[in-house]
Amino acid sequence: MNKESFNWEYAPAPEAKDHAKIKKQYDLFINGQWVKPSGKKYFDTINPANEEKLSEVAEANEKDVNLAVNSARNAYNKVWKKMPAAERAKYIFRIARMIQERSRELAVIESMDGGKPIRESRDFDIPLAANHFFYYAGWADKLEYAFPGKKPNSLGVAAQIVPWNFPLLMAAWKIAPALATGNTVVLKPAETTPLTALKLAEIIQESGLPDGVVNIITGFGNTGAAMVNHPDVNKIAFTGSTDVGKIIQKAVAGSNKKVTLELGGKAANIVFDDAPINQAVEGIVNGIFFNQGHVCCAGSRLFVQENVAEEVISKLKSRMETLIVGDPLDKNTDIGAINSKEQLEKIKSYLTIGQEEGLELYQSSCLIPGKGYFCKPSLFIGAAQSNRVVQEEIFGPVLTIQTFRTIEEVIEKANNIPYGLSAGVWTDKGSKIFNLTSQLRAGVVWANTYNKFDPTSPFGGYKESGFGREGGLHGLAPYLSF
Ligand code: NAI
Ligand code: MG
Repeated sequence: MNKESFNWEYAPAPEAKDHAKIKKQYDLFINGQWVKPSGKKYFDTINPANEEKLSEVAEANEKDVNLAVNSARNAYNKVWKKMPAAERAKYIFRIARMIQERSRELAVIESMDGGKPIRESRDFDIPLAANHFFYYAGWADKLEYAFPGKKPNSLGVAAQIVPWNFPLLMAAWKIAPALATGNTVVLKPAETTPLTALKLAEIIQESGLPDGVVNIITGFGNTGAAMVNHPDVNKIAFTGSTDVGKIIQKAVAGSNKKVTLELGGKAANIVFDDAPINQAVEGIVNGIFFNQGHVCCAGSRLFVQENVAEEVISKLKSRMETLIVGDPLDKNTDIGAINSKEQLEKIKSYLTIGQEEGLELYQSSCLIPGKGYFCKPSLFIGAAQSNRVVQEEIFGPVLTIQTFRTIEEVIEKANNIPYGLSAGVWTDKGSKIFNLTSQLRAGVVWANTYNKFDPTSPFGGYKESGFGREGGLHGLAPYLSF
């Protein structure tokens, strides 16, 4: 922590972890049972904040994927498809309640396995995951009202692949609407953050959900590819990198599989001179440093109107000095650990690229722990559209700053990017907000706020950010045929 800007310090406030039950080894959750992987292989998941091993989890091969898909198919045909929707809803509701009951343990495990600050896993990830189950439980028996005049039908087996930035939340985003619409599921968490999905498997087992309705298997990209390529899968839901999204898109071409892809982003966060500046600075901080910047909709490109740029940048720098980087389990921590060694290396390589591109790099003067994967909050000042650090997704606590003079200029710059997931606008004027929201090619535009989520609100992208919507009524449609 920077001693100069502080005359006092926070005492450590670590969240207890003795109540979090992590097994030494996890098998695959298939057909309501824990099944050994047929290849007998396991891999470690570590705590990125101290590099210690937390557990080892099974690596599913093609044979295991086949077993999981068959179990989901069987459960679909024999039980789930036939069950009255109001009965289905009760199970979904029960899972929501059980997530709430175990929220403390889930939050601690999420922070240990992935590095995010406990404040975020406790107040954002876990409650929102429960809310998605609550919300979709409500839709299960009202699908005909959701799509008036149409006859919605479930699809069958959904293969769902999720990333490491919001592990339990992304699992909830995918499982809840699939179940509400009468589909069965095979889900794979990311290799660096499998533990909360496996805890969810325990919850599902205890909830009495019929065997095989949800199967949770672990593994790397190969496992995900085997799920995508399995001939008996009807629907693929993927959140992750644009590169893998493109591979999936090619793999399903010519098949009947329905697909939704939620991929990368490089959002513009736009601050006009009439914005409430202090509030905007908070929004900039939240936009890029939330979850270490491992956020597909992160406000990673800041656009500031030229006449307030000096003020905004100077306030932003002094606000950054107060951010506490360190132990994810400390309740005072603002920025936790970078999810993996690979991701830290990727971020560092972009810090080098930006400097080689001639940009000024500003980092807060905080100290970072000697062990574990950490990165100081960073700004690239004086960036231009052509810079790689402006065009490419860094997925870390790194913000580029550009200035603009007119609305037309900022709209053009904001849209001139391969991605189109989200954007932010800061201004006092409602008409400016409406003008921008209609012209920015982004799935979500936040006005005078950033990174706000709600299960009732659809989320998804344009262009290389993918297609399809998750959340809200819109999030039901990709799991239905009409
Ligand atoms: P990734 O896209 O490789 O991983 C996401 C999930 O896809 C994981 O569960 C992974 O096991 C699975 N997967 C990998 N290859 C697959 C394949 N061929 N077929 C099916 N599933 C496959 O992302 P990765 O490598 O972890 O991160 C690389 C970069 O991607 C990050 O630096 C970041 O820029 C971006 N990313 C974006 C995310 C987003 O939410 N938009 C989430 C995660 C990563
Ligand atoms: Mg881990």
